This record gives sequence, structure tokens and C-alpha cells, in this order.
Amino acid sequence: MKLSRRDLLRLSNAAAGWSLLTSTTREAPAPPSPLNLFDFESAARERLSAMVYAFIAGGAGDELTVRWNREALDRLRLCPRNLESVADPDMRVHLPGLDAPHPILLAPIGFHRLMHADGELATVRGANAAQATMVVSMGTTTPIDALVRAATQPLWSQIYLLYGRSFIKDVVLRVQSAGVKAVVVTIDTPSNGPRNRQDRAGFAVPPNLPLPLMTPSSYQGAADAMFVAKASWKDLEWVRSIVRVPLWVKGILNPLDAQRAVDAGAAGIIVSNHGGRNLDTNPATIDALPRVADIVAGRVPILMDGGIRRGTDVLKAIALGASAVLIGRPYVYGLAAAGSEGVTHVVEILKRELAMAMMLAGRSTLRAVDRAALWS
Ligand SMILES: Cc1cc2nc3c(=O)[nH]c(=O)nc-3n(C[C@H](O)[C@H](O)[C@H](O)COP(=O)(O)O)c2cc1C
Repeated sequence: MKLSRRDLLRLSNAAAGWSLLTSTTREAPAPPSPLNLFDFESAARERLSAMVYAFIAGGAGDELTVRWNREALDRLRLCPRNLESVADPDMRVHLPGLDAPHPILLAPIGFHRLMHADGELATVRGANAAQATMVVSMGTTTPIDALVRAATQPLWSQIYLLYGRSFIKDVVLRVQSAGVKAVVVTIDTPSNGPRNRQDRAGFAVPPNLPLPLMTPSSYQGAADAMFVAKASWKDLEWVRSIVRVPLWVKGILNPLDAQRAVDAGAAGIIVSNHGGRNLDTNPATIDALPRVADIVAGRVPILMDGGIRRGTDVLKAIALGASAVLIGRPYVYGLAAAGSEGVTHVVEILKRELAMAMMLAGRSTLRAVDRAALWS
């Protein structure tokens, strides 16, 4: 992705034009435009029920890991270089299952129809306009074929090891024949964490919500409700043997698990603590990343998510060994606030901030962003 000066100006004008989307009358003063990713949370909160907002925003237990994801990124300082000829920052990435003009993907998040009537279709259209790859959650409320048809960017599909091998095989074959370019197996959720905030708000998945990839009743074989907790590395190796597109493993924090995922044949690793929704007091992902990068030692690429809100956060993740990042809550806030345009704006703002950060830090390519970009 190359951003010209004209592109940068156009994007800042686009961000300023946001108020056109959100103002309701000519007379009323326009609400403040979302200028950064944090601003989308309040815009979304105004439109969402308290229950759905708590479902998105909340984490597990005392939400310490949610907080640490942000605090650990904030604590890192950058080490800029000047006069490095940075007029044209090159943000392109080449990964198994993805050639992209920038390193920002949309993390798998379930139940988009709770956030917007058009659900995942609105998300994928928003991602198209921002040239972003969406990782479709197994909790999609829209059939995967419809999403692949609507996508102009490579689409990835996330699965959990739910209900037993034959159920999973069924899902893998369906998403592959739909045309997804990679499969992501999330391995960090043998159970949910105690999600006190969403429970207090009374959140429950509506029984009539369509879940085309997650419904054991629509499948002919025997479904084992506890399989997700019984699953082992042998099951991951088995998934690897049936998947014909690159397989990414999501939810790695411990370097030992990173090593096992590489041994199991993963094409790439996603360092993630599930946005702090599972095991509270797990470390911030940016703190786990360097240890994972050290053990992986370049054998497979690494992605990271958790708390990415600023272009400087993307730069920091790349400096510590990630090839690209995923964002979670911010884009569903964008979806809730303004449908597909909201999703596009979230990604465009982050892209623009990353381009600025690269220029100001004196790094004209992502390859040039290494640990020396951080103040040690
Ligand atoms: C409402 C919500 C639903 C999620 N659903 C899934 C899911 O279905 N599959 C999955 O692998 N991760 C899921 N996640 C975790 C995200 O993929 C991602 O790891 C996390 O949101 C990143 O942190 P961030 O929200 O701070 O950007 C979910 C996260 C949220 C907030």
C-alpha cells in the first residue's frame, strides 16, 4: 500500500466528512466526528442495546487482561530516525493466504447481526472498500458462500474445534468449497471465561439467530458438546491433514505452544488472548509476542491482536515480530455506528495513522520496522 500526499489529504477529508453520516438534522449541531478508533466506541454505544454493548466491550473476570493489552502498548516508546526518504511508505504484506496492500485484518467476531441488520455482509463490504481481509467467525450469522461472493479481498474462515471431528470436517469442506483463502483454528477457548459484565447486562445469544456454521442440529452425525474441551494437539494435526489452504493457529501466548503449532504444520501463528475474554490475568499480547517471535525464529509468520487502536500500535507489533495485526472491537463498533461505511472508516483511519507513524519514525517499508524502532 502506497499512500501519496494527496491520499493522506483525501483521507483526512473523509474522516472530517463523517459527520454527514451521523448527523440527523441540518439544525442540530453535528456530533463530534470519530477521528480515531476510540471515538467509534461511543458512537456505537449510542446505537446498541446495553446487553450487546456489554457483550462486545466486556472481558473475563476483572478485565485486567483487557486493560493490560492497552497499557502494555502505551508503555512502549518509539525510536525514530529522520531524513530516511519516507515519502511513499510501503505497507504491503505477503502472507500464506494473503497478498495485501496493508497489514490490518479484521479479527473473527461472532454474531454481526446483533450489531447491524445487514450483519457480516455489511462488514465484508466495508472491508472491501478498505482492501482489508475479514476473518469470518464460525459464529457468522450469514452463510459463508454469500460472504465469499460479496468479497473482493481474500476471505479467511475461523473455526473452533466444536462437536467432534466429523462435524469439523463438514465445516472445513464447506468453507473450502466456498473459496476461503485460509482457515484459522482458534485454540484458546476450551471454555469461556467468567464474563461478568455481559452476564450482569443479561446478554444471551437470541435463540432465533441464524448460525450456519455452528449449528450441530443441522448436521447428521453425532455432536459431542464437550469436544472443544477434550481437543488436543493430535486433533490440530488432524485438522492440518484435511485443510487444503494455509492453516493459521489463533490464541497462542506461550512459546511452547507456538513451537507445537509450528511442529503441527501451521502456516502461521496468531498471538492472541481473545481480547481478554477468556483467562483473565493472561499477559498482554504485545508482551507475549517477542517470546513467541524468538522461538518461531522466522519459520512461519506471526500475526497479533489485542488492543490495537493506533497506527503506532501496529508499528510496535511489527517491531516485535508480527507481520500484520488484527483488530476486533473497533470494527464492530464501526459496523454498529454506520454499517459498512463505519467498518471502512475504522480501517482507513488506522491505515492513515500507520502511514504517518512510518513516515515519522523514518521507516519507509514494513521490513525496515524491527526492534530498533523501539526505544530500549
Ligand atoms: C464480541 C467478540 C466476539 C468474538 N468472537 C470471536 C470468535 O468467534 N472467534 C475468535 O477466534 N475470536 C473471537 N473474538 C476475539 C477476536 O477475534 C480478537 O482476538 C479480539 O477481539 C482482539 O482484541 P481487540 O478487540 O482488543 O482488538 C471475539 C471478540 C469479541 C470482542
